[in-house]
Amino acid sequence: MNKLSKFCKELSNFTKIKPEIYLSPATGYRARAEFGFSKSSYTMVVDEDKKYMDKSSIPHTSIQQLMPNLLSKINESETLQKKLFQINFRTSGTKCLATLIYHKQLKEEWIHVAKDIQESIKNISVIGRSKKQKVSIGPEDIEVVCNFDNSSFRILQNDLVFFQPNFYLYSLMISFITQQLQEPNDLLELYCGCGGFTLPLASKFKKVFATENNRHSIRLLKESIKLNNLSNIETVRLSDNETASALANKRTFRRLENINMQSYQFSHILVDPPRAGLSDETINLSKQFKNMIYISCNPETFLRDIVKLERNIKSIGIFDQFTNTQHLEVVAFL
Ligand SMILES: C[S@@+](CC[C@H](N)C(=O)[O-])C[C@H]1O[C@@H](n2cnc3c(N)ncnc32)[C@H](O)[C@@H]1O
Repeated sequence: MNKLSKFCKELSNFTKIKPEIYLSPATGYRARAEFGFSKSSYTMVVDEDKKYMDKSSIPHTSIQQLMPNLLSKINESETLQKKLFQINFRTSGTKCLATLIYHKQLKEEWIHVAKDIQESIKNISVIGRSKKQKVSIGPEDIEVVCNFDNSSFRILQNDLVFFQPNFYLYSLMISFITQQLQEPNDLLELYCGCGGFTLPLASKFKKVFATENNRHSIRLLKESIKLNNLSNIETVRLSDNETASALANKRTFRRLENINMQSYQFSHILVDPPRAGLSDETINLSKQFKNMIYISCNPETFLRDIVKLERNIKSIGIFDQFTNTQHLEVVAFL
């Protein structure tokens, strides 16, 4: 049984609602791709199910186009090659970040040859990393333009933050959410990352309060809020459990000093946790909300949490973000 049939069968134990299913192209879909580097070539960091097809066809075409040139440059230079073990790519659709990760400290000589890559390969931005060291040769942040609902949003990201990995399904996930949304007032968003959903959804709510525990993501989100001239989003670095404690008035945080939490009238909570799913504190917090939007990258913990949340599924979309693997992404209104 394939992964979609398997999940739909499991889901039928929880709801009679039929899921909407969104498929991805089988190639060129990954906006982020991580490769090992060994014996002068790229090697795919193999997924647990070991079922990748031709790995070079998975990244978005803008990444695919520069991969051979970058490899030639690396293989021409002993300085670039030595102790290099990983190369991570991410793309805005045109501009690509290439992060070269080493088991050695990067010195002047490395900077010199990395500058040559930066100058000779179009649309690349090179970053070198090793233990406790980062050397940026090009810009560190890239800007994704998300076109949606006749508007476009500029979303900054860099190599230290989460960003939606499937170039094609990302905007379909946003459309699914906005189509299902009913009676929006204010939104509480947990695990907001650098604002992949926060920024496009802000126009649908009066105000948004968004939290996340990664400081790089929060810095980027704050910059993107300014870039897009949005005035109805407030964001603070708080973990899921800290957010729950703050809203229950169990703890005070200096980071919340300038925010008037009493002014919010939340109609919805949106959560997009890592694979481990929701903490018990977040489950309890969610129970106080009339409407919940749960984005999950792990159907197993999603189904576990549905039981703990004691909520019914009102609508659900399944997004096959990683075709050829066992992974599925779920967006549910509860
Ligand atoms: C699946 S990502 C979703 C990010 C964002 N919603 C997006 O689509 O770009 C999960 C996010 O949760 C954050 N995170 C992980 N553990 C967390 C925690 N305990 N509290 C708050 N945020 C956490 C990660 O840094 C990451 O940005």
